[in-house]
Amino acid sequence: MAVINNYLGFAFVFLVFLGPFECSADICEQRGPCKCVYPNGTGVDLSPSVLPSGFYPVSYYKPTYNAAEVAKYELQTYYFHPCADVSLNVSVNSCNRPMTIYRESYTLNKTAGTGVGATFNLTSTNCEYLGDKADANFTSGNTGPAITFHNGPSTTTVLLICSDSASQLHTYNMDEPNAGILAFYSKDACLKQLEEPGRSFGSTLLIIFFSFVIFYLVLGVCTKKFLMGATGVEVIPNLGFWTDLPNLVKDGWAFAIRGFRLPTRGVGPVGPADPNSYDSI
Ligand SMILES: *[C@@H]1O[C@H](CO)[C@@H](O)[C@H](O)[C@H]1NC(C)=O
Ligand SMILES: *[C@@H]1O[C@H](CO)[C@@H](O)[C@H](O)[C@H]1NC(C)=O
Ligand SMILES: *[C@@H]1O[C@H](CO)[C@@H](O)[C@H](O)[C@H]1NC(C)=O
Ligand SMILES: *[C@@H]1O[C@H](CO)[C@@H](O)[C@H](O)[C@H]1NC(C)=O
Ligand SMILES: *[C@@H]1O[C@H](CO)[C@@H](O)[C@H](O)[C@H]1NC(C)=O
Repeated sequence: MAVINNYLGFAFVFLVFLGPFECSADICEQRGPCKCVYPNGTGVDLSPSVLPSGFYPVSYYKPTYNAAEVAKYELQTYYFHPCADVSLNVSVNSCNRPMTIYRESYTLNKTAGTGVGATFNLTSTNCEYLGDKADANFTSGNTGPAITFHNGPSTTTVLLICSDSASQLHTYNMDEPNAGILAFYSKDACLKQLEEPGRSFGSTLLIIFFSFVIFYLVLGVCTKKFLMGATGVEVIPNLGFWTDLPNLVKDGWAFAIRGFRLPTRGVGPVGPADPNSYDSI
């Protein structure tokens, strides 16, 4: 019986004090290729950042050295066009279709000189499709929302980072050739109130709970007053339970903190002394 009391107390504590807080992880739920919304109705929408037909570019290069000590440079430019696909109208490699994100690569061999005076020979070019708007997949990382494009062996991630400046694409981490991480800095990546906040599971529970309490009180008062002829404070149903509630809440907290175990025998009172408290509910 003491266990039931402890659970009752804990249920009350949970519903009234903890229920309104979100227990679920905050996920920015995807709404289309460039918009996502958190449970509280805030989210990001990149559509104002769309350029009429151009892509946001970012270039990076990495030098590599082959066995013959020929310095070889790899220059890559990533192009990102949020929200919609754009066709380049070219038939270079896999870039011959509408795309939201793609990459151009150039391989250069250093032929002579050093520093700014160095000359290079372009040895190869490539253009790779990395994803279209149907591939856009929102994920929620610790930097906030991100869009991941998965295409064959490559996965390209675009972190969406709130910024005051005009929208810009940057590289973030290019250590893995097939898992490039880019960062899109934009004021459109800042959280805005996009929808009415959805009611959380906790507050829905709370509303149901209080509806029941009111229903139960009204029914109880009527029953006691008219059927049993109670007067004064006596009309409150299960008076013993309500007067004992502060104790139950206290026990409930203690019970939860102990990890849902009863106190060891002899330590403090176990359960309320008033038999009305639970038996009559
Ligand atoms: C909405 O939720 C997000 C994600 O948890 C949070 O970063 C943001 O501050 C919240 N906004 C408001 C107005 O509560
Ligand atoms: C590709 O061609 C279409 C139709 O002619 C045109 O609307 C579009 O702007 C072109 N794309 C680029 C990047 O030039
Ligand atoms: C460029 O360098 C690579 C080795 O890094 C070599 O295989 C290739 O033949 C070179 N190309 C030219 C045009 O020099
Ligand atoms: C650069 O490339 C061109 C043609 O690909 C070749 O004729 C020339 O010899 C190369 N120069 C060097 C220094 O390798
Ligand atoms: C999006 O990513 C999640 C988690 O990585 C994955 O489970 C899901 O299948 C992906 N959806 C699409 C459309 O690629």
